[in-house]
Amino acid sequence: MSGEKTFYLETFGCQMNVHDSEKVIGTLLHEGYRQVESVEQAGLILYNTCSIRDKAEQKVFHRLADYKKLQAQGKKFGVLGCVAQQEGEKIFERAPHVSLVCGSASYRNLPQMLAQLEGRSTLQSGVPHVSPILGDVGRRDSGLVAQGSPLVRITGPRVTGLDDRETDQCFETEFTARTNPHRGYITIIEGCDKFCAYCVVPFTRGKERSRTSDSVLAEARQMADLGYTEIQLLGQNVNSYKDPAGKPGSRKTFAELLAAVGEVPGIKRVRFTTSHPRDFGRDIIDAIDAVPTLCDHVHLPVQSGSDKVLNAMQRLYTREQYLERIAWMKSAKRGVSITTDVIVGFPGETEEDFHQTLSLLDEVGYDGVFTFKYSPRPNTPSLALDDAIPDQEKSRRLEVLMSRQKEIQITRYKKYIGSNIEVMVEGRNESRNQWIGRTSHNKTLNFTAPADASPKVGAYVQTRVVGSFPNSLLGEMVV
Ligand code: 5AD
Ligand code: SF4
Repeated sequence: MSGEKTFYLETFGCQMNVHDSEKVIGTLLHEGYRQVESVEQAGLILYNTCSIRDKAEQKVFHRLADYKKLQAQGKKFGVLGCVAQQEGEKIFERAPHVSLVCGSASYRNLPQMLAQLEGRSTLQSGVPHVSPILGDVGRRDSGLVAQGSPLVRITGPRVTGLDDRETDQCFETEFTARTNPHRGYITIIEGCDKFCAYCVVPFTRGKERSRTSDSVLAEARQMADLGYTEIQLLGQNVNSYKDPAGKPGSRKTFAELLAAVGEVPGIKRVRFTTSHPRDFGRDIIDAIDAVPTLCDHVHLPVQSGSDKVLNAMQRLYTREQYLERIAWMKSAKRGVSITTDVIVGFPGETEEDFHQTLSLLDEVGYDGVFTFKYSPRPNTPSLALDDAIPDQEKSRRLEVLMSRQKEIQITRYKKYIGSNIEVMVEGRNESRNQWIGRTSHNKTLNFTAPADASPKVGAYVQTRVVGSFPNSLLGEMVV
């Protein structure tokens, strides 16, 4: 192998992780690494991991096991993201060929960590949470395992970047390598302080910290200058955004920031995710009403329709309060499409509780629901709860819920037939001879176009809806 530094990165999990990977890639490219398409071509193999549910976490360890033998070729392995933060240095025991473990709150230290990994001149004084573990080191020395534990042989340098929910900084980077040239993410807030009883995120992504609205707007303008037309503002809970400083008098609420991004010249669509009902203000709907570039879609995770379960989940709102927010959305001038997340089988969820969730689906009439079986997660308060629901019963409830929602979507999607809708062109499906578009409502709309008027990916075109399915619309381009 030449002296060239190459890396392969695979990403699991949510949009926050996808965007973090874009920042990590940007940072590595800036550090002189080249991104390659396969594990075989890479000197450094990175997994940006998710631990939201048990299955997501297992994937990482399966991947690491698959490629263990490649260590003999001098390749290095790194685990980033939520599993890294959650499992910390325990990963070195489970997968001894790993030499880098780094949670998202420590990505800003990646350049120093990479230098250590490569054995270049290393520690800068005052860099927090970057600990080199070199050579023959006992577990005791890493401060993790009780005294008297057997020594572990660790070969080669190992580097960790782990957060203790103390970090105040965001991972802002000028080297973000966005993969899509038309629509891109901007992080506005990192971490989470909500501590819902089932959720690992407050433990894996650190405490809540917002970026200044000035820096968010600067990034939005920069993206518009580069030709981006759609921006998605990201955070675990964008509604608790708190502008830390900025220029005097320029401190913005989330709704004001949303509107300001929507007013950046060149930007045609702005989305945001994800919202917590407790902090969701009416001013967000007012902003959607006032600024046409703000997409008419809100994702508002409800998790359960039962007050008893919501309380056990420590969600900090009641069904009634949630429905009040839905009523705001329904009073908007444009029809706002609403999607949600639901967990079935939370400990103690009775058949009656579950039926309340089903009735909530009917009452709201969602355009989409992401459904999950409750999965017990390390560190979370709900681990201590009794009354676990058997997996078979969770699966049954999931099935019932999904089929109820499918009926709701069939009805909702049918209503669009005959209407004209603008889509952003996202791609082409050759085998079906169709173009793939996305509506402002965040629906997939596949459409046909005359051969002599083929649209370009990234363009906005008018379509007429001619058919509907439970999860997508069918249309024809209006020429
Ligand atoms: N088990 C099942 N689903 C979960 N989610 C978060 N934590 C868990 C868990 N422990 C779901 C929630 C959240 C979505 C991103 O993942 O519905 O909104
Ligand atoms: Fe997964 Fe949550 Fe981490 Fe996103 S924040 S990668 S969903 S655990």
